[in-house]
Amino acid sequence: MHAATTSPAVGVPSEFAFDLQDFELVRTLLKQHTGISLSESKRGMVYSRLARRLRATGQRNFRDYLNGLRQGTAEWEQFVNALTTNLTYFYRESHHFETLATLLRTRAKPGTKLRVWCSAASTGEEPWTIALTAAEVFGSLTPPVEILATDLDTGVLATARKATYNAETVSKVPEALVRRYFIREASGDFTVRPELRSLVTFKQQNLLDANWQAKGPFDAIFCRNVLIYFDRDTQLQIVSRFAPMLAPGGSLFVGHSENFAHGQRALRLTGRTVYVRDDA
Ligand SMILES: C[S@@+](CC[C@H](N)C(=O)[O-])C[C@H]1O[C@@H](n2cnc3c(N)ncnc32)[C@H](O)[C@@H]1O
Repeated sequence: MHAATTSPAVGVPSEFAFDLQDFELVRTLLKQHTGISLSESKRGMVYSRLARRLRATGQRNFRDYLNGLRQGTAEWEQFVNALTTNLTYFYRESHHFETLATLLRTRAKPGTKLRVWCSAASTGEEPWTIALTAAEVFGSLTPPVEILATDLDTGVLATARKATYNAETVSKVPEALVRRYFIREASGDFTVRPELRSLVTFKQQNLLDANWQAKGPFDAIFCRNVLIYFDRDTQLQIVSRFAPMLAPGGSLFVGHSENFAHGQRALRLTGRTVYVRDDA
């Protein structure tokens, strides 16, 4: 048991002291490693998420924990996993999946597979929605589509791979599609059917890395609701790397509050937060 101390960070008695210097170091390390810019208002959130890691690793204070990280321990992965925000749901910004359906229909060619990269896949609802969309377009559990799903956070990727969700999570999927594409488990949870699961490959990928494992060309790239965590320069750098990875006429889908109209000559806005590679 640790003695309670009063931490100025959260203004209430807390288990570990966490001062402004500790918080600033967390912000710096996270930004360098992941691109994520944490605002000052996130101090309480950082405390509660990392306090769990201090307990799990038996550290007595933030200073030692953070110094250990700087020496490059295996704890990095857990540090990052603890601080990412993973909110997602099936058919989020559903208009994108209508656009994707049209894209898949118009770009289908006999004998070739369409390729989609979901670059911030979180717990899997987004790549599985892409898979459901493809299955509906082609009227098949084995549509000619391959989906690469990546995320920085290894914890969420494990959930995504498992493809099992509770009834509340699946309630965002139209009932007819739940019946067609999910198996109901004895527990009451729902698992994506194995045929659809074979469409998706999951890999860990930090969008900040100089070399991406993902290799184009892709017919569509989804990068939704992650760029908002980066500063403007980082956003523009990442988006400019997507353009050459798209096949000519391929599309980039970003989140509703992510707007790059003024930054990118290679990408032309074609719909609500959908950009097409423009080779004109
Ligand atoms: C809010 S979720 C969005 C999930 C999904 N794209 C959606 O729109 O519903 C943001 C995801 O981005 C991931 N992420 C954050 N920084 C990243 C980075 N540098 N590289 C790759 N993924 C990152 C987080 O782990 C998290 O799963």
